[in-house]
Amino acid sequence: MNRKVLVTGGTGYIGSHAVVELQAVGFEVLIIDDLSNSTAEVVDQIEKISGIRPGFEVFNLLEYERLQTFFVTNPGIEAIIHFAAFKAVGESVEKPLAYYRNNLVSLMNILDCMSEHKVPNLVFSSSCTVYGQPDQLPVTETTPKKDAESPYGNTKAISEELLRDVVNVNPEINAIALRYFNPIGAHPSALIGELPRGIPNNLVPFITQTAAGIREQLSIYGDDYNTSDGSCVRDYINVVDLAKAHVIAINRLISHTNNDRYEFFNIGTGNGASVLEVVHTFEKATGVNVNYKIVARRAGDIEKIYADTTMANNVLGWKAQASLSDTLLSAWNWEKKIRNIK
Ligand code: UD1
Repeated sequence: MNRKVLVTGGTGYIGSHAVVELQAVGFEVLIIDDLSNSTAEVVDQIEKISGIRPGFEVFNLLEYERLQTFFVTNPGIEAIIHFAAFKAVGESVEKPLAYYRNNLVSLMNILDCMSEHKVPNLVFSSSCTVYGQPDQLPVTETTPKKDAESPYGNTKAISEELLRDVVNVNPEINAIALRYFNPIGAHPSALIGELPRGIPNNLVPFITQTAAGIREQLSIYGDDYNTSDGSCVRDYINVVDLAKAHVIAINRLISHTNNDRYEFFNIGTGNGASVLEVVHTFEKATGVNVNYKIVARRAGDIEKIYADTTMANNVLGWKAQASLSDTLLSAWNWEKKIRNIK
């Protein structure tokens, strides 16, 4: 019998790629998603890639009774990957209560159900946002965390602490938090990818939409930072590579090879790329020019961050594979596919 994994937020951007990778190595996947930032068609696309249709239920994890019933009707789940969360930094400033409630209470409900229904393993989606603007680069897992820049970022920082404390007193629970740097790109099939609603906040969807003619111009937020070309530096990680890190984390928990019952890892490439570098690499990889202009800095942006991935490399045995150029090409292929561009 295949091992059963629950993926919350499994129709979302990173979640859908993780479902594909889990199914590829034989896990039976059940998805819970409230479709607040994704569509049910993603399940069809996952089936097209994998040849397997994951289980799928639509509800919000704040519906505790419903979640309880889910675990009763789906016994034998060995692990959960908890992706489901709100993730728009700017919106979180406008709606802090909605962010704290959704992101924290959903995690608490999941943890309650894990104890009650004897689900021993959890992989949690965290973010490099927990580091704020670090004093030293690259950031290691022990780099001191800074105060969060936004309610969204704070939900990730608090979630990590919550997890640590809950695991501490629940010997039956094991958890791994993965601190993602900047996930970009799409599945090579171009059947799944990032589907932002409305105007994209994130860089790469804005670039691909500008290249596709949907947006007139990309605004680059600042060229007066203390970086090689003045634009901000991030560690852009391919979404399929990132998805694979989740499979490794799940296997580590299921096979009891974790060293501590709560562990956390940086998941990035280890390389910083500036906004201008990303734009120019995109242009070179795709042959499409991106209309851009330099504008003022965006409030809350940090200057520079990239990962030290030694822990993920040596302890998890995971390493990013895809180049920035190939990853940007995959993002463009996805954009072309959904816009019917030849
Ligand atoms: C942010 C969050 C991160 C979160 C992610 C998901 C912080 C510090 N980071 O990442 O935790 O997981 O969003 O939504 O809160 N840029 C432009 N023009 C644009 C868009 C972006 O120049 O139109 C620049 C930004 O200034 C930044 C870089 O591109 O330097 C990346 O921005 P973005 O894709 O929004 O990600 P982060 O802000 O790094």
